[in-house]
Amino acid sequence: MNNNNNNNNNRIAIYAGSFDPYTNGHHDIVKKGCEIFDKVIILIAKNTKKQRTYNISNIAFAIERTLENENILNCEVIVFDGLVADYCKQHHIKYSIRGLRNSMDFEYEENISKINKLIYPDMDTIYLRAENVEISSSMVKELNEYEQDISRFVPEQIMKIIYRKN
Ligand code: COA
Repeated sequence: MNNNNNNNNNRIAIYAGSFDPYTNGHHDIVKKGCEIFDKVIILIAKNTKKQRTYNISNIAFAIERTLENENILNCEVIVFDGLVADYCKQHHIKYSIRGLRNSMDFEYEENISKINKLIYPDMDTIYLRAENVEISSSMVKELNEYEQDISRFVPEQIMKIIYRKN
């Protein structure tokens, strides 16, 4: 049986994003998700509207090290090129975690949630309140371009990638 199969004893949630880069805002949502669910899968997916800045494998590796350093054991990182709902359908994962920073996030996410449901009707979105409302990946990149200290916005392992510029 596939490990990701969801049943009553094993509640799994997906947390999808470009994570370019993964920030403390994302990490906060992951930590909350890991407290609620038996397992959280961080799905690094492709946003067709965005060109990546950082190598996807390097980001995946840095997230894994961050989880390891913090002893977060019920979280896995997967790189996936496809629709998130398709991944969930293939692996029978019903829950998608989304962080809400503001009402605009809600409007946007509700729309995506409806599209996901068209693809996989069993899928549902669980909203978690985001603490670091001021952070976005682009904002971190822009501040870094202007040589501002961004170390408080991203985990240490991600900082290494940003310094290396890959
Ligand atoms: N804290 C801090 N920042 C956050 C955040 C949080 N809790 N939640 C979101 N953000 C930021 C992200 O970093 C991102 O910043 P950016 O626009 O500067 O890169 C922004 O808010 C938007 O986040 P999100 O909506 O998650 O976009 P995304 O590009 O990271 O991911 C996917 C979008 C990958 C989930 C979406 O493109 C996707 O699912 N792609 C696969 C195809 C698919 O299934 N599409 C949906 C059906 S159309």
